[in-house]
Amino acid sequence: MSLQFSRLGARQKESDIARLMTVALQRPDLLSLAAGFTDNQTLPLAELTEVAVQLGEEGERSVLQYGANQGNLKLRQLMTDRLQRQDGVDWDYGIERSFVSNGSQQALYLAVQTLCDPGDIVLVEQPTYFVFLEMLRGLGVEAVSLPVGSGGEIDTVALAAMLEAYAKAGEIERVKAVYLISYYANPSGRCISRDCKQSVLEILARYEGSIALFEDAAYREMYYERPFAAESAVALEKANRVVPVFYSTTLTKPFATGLKVGFGYCTHEDWLARMMAIKGQQDFGTANYNQALLAKSLETGLFDRHLGVLRASYFAKMRALHVRLGETLGELGWSWEQPEGGLYLWLTAPEGLETGFESAFHEAAIEAGVMYVPGELCQAEGRPRNRARLSFGVLGLAELEEAGDRFCAAAKQIGSAQIS
Ligand SMILES: Cc1ncc(COP(=O)(O)O)c(C=O)c1O
Repeated sequence: MSLQFSRLGARQKESDIARLMTVALQRPDLLSLAAGFTDNQTLPLAELTEVAVQLGEEGERSVLQYGANQGNLKLRQLMTDRLQRQDGVDWDYGIERSFVSNGSQQALYLAVQTLCDPGDIVLVEQPTYFVFLEMLRGLGVEAVSLPVGSGGEIDTVALAAMLEAYAKAGEIERVKAVYLISYYANPSGRCISRDCKQSVLEILARYEGSIALFEDAAYREMYYERPFAAESAVALEKANRVVPVFYSTTLTKPFATGLKVGFGYCTHEDWLARMMAIKGQQDFGTANYNQALLAKSLETGLFDRHLGVLRASYFAKMRALHVRLGETLGELGWSWEQPEGGLYLWLTAPEGLETGFESAFHEAAIEAGVMYVPGELCQAEGRPRNRARLSFGVLGLAELEEAGDRFCAAAKQIGSAQIS
């Protein structure tokens, strides 16, 4: 007799990110453009120490006690106000529909878990956040790419036709949600225009609230110079209230990743109640002390001051990597767009040059001493195979330039030799 796993347990395999981390541990000489870690140098250690002292001086011992399942009320209020300010409108549902999660990753998991059974479908962008794809796979949910136009934007005419085809085939009940990363996306760096988001909502409304919209706004505040002008789907849908909208964002990437606190907002009361029931079973509340640190950081303006530091730092890092790669890769037929926010460059290699874990290019990159995320991991269907995600989050400027040089060396070595 051996241990028999549940169907959920049996479906699990080592995650791609764990595989990348194993390689990093085996080869400490490697420079990593792979992990979506944030910049060590700018983590606000001294500032947070002061916040901790202030909390201590206030003498409120309850910050070290368990908190509420749905989260610290002050933090929920601060975040709901903040998001409404970003949208320039009242969201209408109040803070009742908000909750705090253990990173936005947990919020996303709860949203999927309460909606989707194995065999259901979630429509995702091409490319999309690869850990979200892993999560869907783990839950037995099928990820299907949204149709894209020639410029890489969502083709909403084709989306309407796609949903009609599911309906005709009697399969529309399987389609549970559309997942959009609408600001400086991981990995594409793109933003989704207001018109596009509005069109997606209009198309989903034809299905009378049976298909939800997940809006993942993890990088919304991580613009370099100015915020992208598009309201959230919560704001855009508030006049109609047909499509259930789940909005998530994070307090980790724009501040201190180690605090691992996320924020969710769900316009659908019953859906939210079910998410909270599962959260109650998982952890009955996110770390209360971390929430208190974040509420104080938001309240005192520290959070915003720090964002100013991060925006300048990530802009400089993006430029450094972009320039370093540009010198060589352009000539070799690679291309990419410079993002206006976020942590990633999304590279397209020449047609036919594969970048997957088993490819000659990947081997050459590891040999040269640099890691990246193969682009196929970020695609629901595993294609195209000639893309790469480079994260400039964690390395310092000099290391980034070195990593860029190593990446170029691999590209030179493989060059057109591998192109079929
Ligand atoms: C698009 C996106 N969403 C969500 C997350 C989850 O972040 P966290 O759990 O730290 O809030 C990440 C992290 O990389 C991400 O890139």
